[in-house]
Amino acid sequence: MKIVGVICTPRIGGNSEILVKQVLDAATKAGAESEIIFVRDKKIQFCDGCMKCIKSGKCHLIDDMEEIGEKLVTSDGIVIGVPTYWTIGGMGVAFLDRLLPYTASGRLANKVGAGIVVGARVAVDTAAGVLRRFFIYSHMLCVECVAHYGTVPGDVIKNEYAMKSAWEIGRLMALFKENGNRYPEEYSVPLSNYVKKKYGDNIYPYHSS
Ligand SMILES: Cc1cc2nc3c(=O)[nH]c(=O)nc-3n(C[C@H](O)[C@H](O)[C@H](O)COP(=O)(O)O)c2cc1C
Repeated sequence: MKIVGVICTPRIGGNSEILVKQVLDAATKAGAESEIIFVRDKKIQFCDGCMKCIKSGKCHLIDDMEEIGEKLVTSDGIVIGVPTYWTIGGMGVAFLDRLLPYTASGRLANKVGAGIVVGARVAVDTAAGVLRRFFIYSHMLCVECVAHYGTVPGDVIKNEYAMKSAWEIGRLMALFKENGNRYPEEYSVPLSNYVKKKYGDNIYPYHSS
C-alpha cells in the first residue's frame, strides 16, 4: 500500500509541509509505503483549457505532470497539503487543474484522500472546501480534510492538536485502505473526539477546525 503526499507550498519547511510529513510518517508506521512530491520542485505548466484530456485521458503539455500523475495513479492514497493563499494558492490550483486527465478518466477513483490546509486566519475553511470538492469530483474517498492556523514556518509544531491529528490522519489513511475502504472501528468517531480521547481533552484548542 502506498500513500503519496503532495506539498503545494513554495515555502521550504512550511506549515503544510510539516503536517503532510507527519501524516506520511504515521502512515509508514502503520505499514504503508510513502512518497513525497514537492510541487515547487516540478515543472508544471498551467492548464490551457483545451479539454482534449476529457476524451483522451492525456494532456498534450510536456512537463513533469505526467510523471506525477503516474505516481498518483499507482498509489493507494493521496494527501494534499496547501497553504491558504486566498484559497489553496496558485501552486495548488495549477496542480489540481492539471490532474483533470486523471480525474476525468476515473483513474483516481476509490483512492483514499486527505487534505491539509494551513493559513493565518482568513478563508482556511474555504481552502479545505476546495480540496474536499476535488476529492469528491475525483471519486476519491476523503477520510479527513483539516484546516489549521499558522503564519510563520513552524507555527503548527506549537499546535499539539494539529500535529497529533495529522498523525492520526496518516494512520487512518493506511488502516482505512487495509480495512477495505471502511473506517476501522476505532476511527468511527469524529477525528477531534478520537484525538481528545487518545491524547487528553486539553489538546483540543479553540483555534483549529
Ligand atoms: C501570497 C500570500 C497569500 C496569503 N493569503 C492568505 C489568506 O488568504 N488567508 C490566510 O489565512 N492566510 C494567508 N496567507 C498566510 C499563509 O497561509 C500562512 O503563512 C501559512 O502558514 C502558509 O503555509 P506554509 O507555511 O505551508 O507555506 C497568505 C500568505 C501569502 C504569502
